[in-house]
Amino acid sequence: MPAPGKTANCAPPRLRVLGVESSCDETGIAIYDSGAGLLAQALHSQIALHAEYGGVVPELASRDHIRRLLPLTRQVFAEAGLSLADIDAIAYTAGPGLAGALLVGASFANALALGLGIPALPIHHLEGHLLSPLLSQSGAQFPFVALLVSGGHTQLMRVGAVGDYELLGDTLDDAAGEAFDKTAQLLGLGYPGGPALAALAERGVAGRIRLPRPLLNSGNLDFSFAGLKTAVLTAWRQGAQTDERRADLAAEFEQAVVDVLLAKSMKALRACGLNRLVVAGGVGANRHLRRALDAAAARAGATVHYPPLDLCTDNGAMIALAGALRLQQHAESTARGESGLPPAGDYAFGVLPRWALASIRPA
Ligand code: KG4
Ligand code: ZN
Repeated sequence: MPAPGKTANCAPPRLRVLGVESSCDETGIAIYDSGAGLLAQALHSQIALHAEYGGVVPELASRDHIRRLLPLTRQVFAEAGLSLADIDAIAYTAGPGLAGALLVGASFANALALGLGIPALPIHHLEGHLLSPLLSQSGAQFPFVALLVSGGHTQLMRVGAVGDYELLGDTLDDAAGEAFDKTAQLLGLGYPGGPALAALAERGVAGRIRLPRPLLNSGNLDFSFAGLKTAVLTAWRQGAQTDERRADLAAEFEQAVVDVLLAKSMKALRACGLNRLVVAGGVGANRHLRRALDAAAARAGATVHYPPLDLCTDNGAMIALAGALRLQQHAESTARGESGLPPAGDYAFGVLPRWALASIRPA
C-alpha cells in the first residue's frame, strides 16, 4: 500500500483506522495502518443463520451484528497487539445495504468514536469493494476501470482517484451475484448459491445446453441477468433433471455471465482508453471469471487487479482501507495537514440504505 500522501511542511501522518462492516450478512472488523497495511481482521458470516430461509432475513441480520461486533473488535485489537488508544479514526459502512444492519454498525462506530474523541467516517460499501484490490501486493494505479460484481450490484466505473467515480454501465435488473444465487436456488443448490453453482459448473460442460448472452451486443455497457435465470429454469424443466444436465446448465450459465462481463469490461477499457481493470465484489472470487479476464486482458495488453481472494466478499478491511485513504486525501486537501484528521463527530449520524456511488466526491 502506498504510504499516506505528503503535506506541505510535515512528515506524512501515520494513521490507524478501525473498519466496521455490517451492511448485510457479514460482520467484519479490521485495523488498517496507512504505513504497515492491514494489521488484523476478523469476520463472522451469518450464512448458517439465514440458510433455512433461503435468503437474508433483515431483522435476524441486525440482531446478529449486535451480538458479534464487540467480540470481533476485541479479537482484532488482541491480534494487532493494540489498544483503543492506538486508533486514529473509525470507518464504518453507512450504505448501501439493509437499514437495520447498517444502523447497528453506524451506532457502534459512532459511539466508540465519540467515546474516544476521534472521527467516525461514513464509507460507501461499494467504495470499499472498489478500493479493495489496493490491499493486494500488486495494487492498481489510478486511473482504472472497475468491474463491481456483488450480490447487489453489477457496475462498470471509471475510477480517476479516491472519490472520483464515473458510472459507465449498470445492470437493468438482477445483479450478477443475485443471478448466481437465484439460479443456484432453482437448481436446488441452497443458499448462498454463488460458490456452490461455481463448484458445480466445474463438473459440467458449457455449450451442451445453449443459454442467451443478454445485452452482449447492446452497444452500451449495461447488463441484464434476470432473463438468464428464467432461461435456466425453462431449460431445466424441459429435459431430464439429472445430475449431468444440472452440471451442464451450471457451466453454461457461468459461461454466459462470464462472456458478458468479459466483453463489456474490455469494451469499457477501450472506451476510456485505459489498460488497467480492477475487479471487486463477491463474484470477483469466481475462478472462471478470473481466468477469462486474465487471458483477454493479456491479449489486449491490459492488466487485471483483484483483491486477495478472502477479501472479495464483504469484510471490514476494505472499509478500514477506504477510511484511511479518505483521511489521507483529507490531509492533502486541507491546511490542517499536521494530523490529517477531520474533527470528531457531533452526535449526529445516519445511514443511506440506497446510495449511488457516482454521487460521492473526493474528501
Ligand atoms: O460482495 P458480496 O460479498 O456482497 C454484496 O455486497 O453483495 O457478494 C456476495 C455475492 C453473492 O451473490 C455470492 O453468491 C457471490 O457474491 N459469489 C460468487 C462466488 N463467491 C461469491 N459468485 C460466483 N462465483 C463465486 N465463486
Ligand atoms: Zn459487498
